[in-house]
Amino acid sequence: MAQFIDDKKKELSEKLEQSDAPDKLQMVESSFRKVMKELFAEMKTLPNEEKKDVGAAINNFKKEFEERIAAVRKKITEMAKSSSAVDLTVPSPEFIRGKIHPLIRVGRMFEDVYKEMGFSIAYGPEIENDRHNYEMLNMPYYHPARDMQDTFYLEYPKVLLRSHTSCVQVRYMLEHKPPFMIISPGVVYRVDEIDPQHTPCFYQVEGLVVGEGINLANLKWAVTESVKRVFGPEYKVKFSPCYYPYTEPSAAVDMGCIMCGGKGCRTCKGTGWMRVAGAGMVHPNVFEAVGYSRDTVGFAFGWGLNRLPMLYFKINEMRKLFENEISLWEQL
Ligand code: DAH
Repeated sequence: MAQFIDDKKKELSEKLEQSDAPDKLQMVESSFRKVMKELFAEMKTLPNEEKKDVGAAINNFKKEFEERIAAVRKKITEMAKSSSAVDLTVPSPEFIRGKIHPLIRVGRMFEDVYKEMGFSIAYGPEIENDRHNYEMLNMPYYHPARDMQDTFYLEYPKVLLRSHTSCVQVRYMLEHKPPFMIISPGVVYRVDEIDPQHTPCFYQVEGLVVGEGINLANLKWAVTESVKRVFGPEYKVKFSPCYYPYTEPSAAVDMGCIMCGGKGCRTCKGTGWMRVAGAGMVHPNVFEAVGYSRDTVGFAFGWGLNRLPMLYFKINEMRKLFENEISLWEQL
């Protein structure tokens, strides 16, 4: 029996020495209680003359071990207290660097390309008035083209969230005299139903070039060149006749759908092309509205920027740009 007590003592002592955390200590304590139970049960089976000595040995073991457990508990508590100060110099185990949003990245690529081509950047407010957003762009209050762009009014019918960046053209012309070449990037708002190509808030980059001798060929070159510089020289751009009240003639600009290689898919609505910009020669009524002569010449264009990161990064739905899908962001 004495040998048995010694063995158990040794076994528990080893475990206790390794206890440097509350959970480990708890395990030692429960093993200790089990051993005690076993030992007392064993003692009861011994002849009476042996019981006294063995009982004393067990009690000694019990007392001694309980004191040692208490000492270890105190040590663990003190250790926890002293290590609770945070060491700010320890490097974080994982450092995830953020990235710039794809929309902003493609927007900046466009800005850089236009700056290289000699354009400067102009900004306008997102809260606009009816005059700049529609009226001075040859869209009087009864004009049906307003319907397509219907937006959010702050004070109906005069104060609204701009439905396009074309209003920056007017603002800029009211304050500057030609010649100039500007682009104006920014957010615009429309009451659009969400689908793969539409969201109610999106980015545009407006362009305006006014100066003597400016013509449609200059417009075609500037738009095509900017696509080729951002996306690559092999990229397809298509111009087709279109209507905008503030340009005459007007053109729609499409880029080949990268998602299906031009075969037609859900993203391009089966056409093989994606509408990315509107453009044209500035209408004489617009020049007149800002106080220029009707003989002034210039071209304008407006990129719907949200579709460009879709094409650039091959994202098949525009709304993904606004969703917090980490697995997507990690790939871009
Ligand atoms: N403002 C048009 C839109 O939001 C785009 C546009 C078309 C801009 C023709 C222009 C332009 O400057 O000339 O859909």
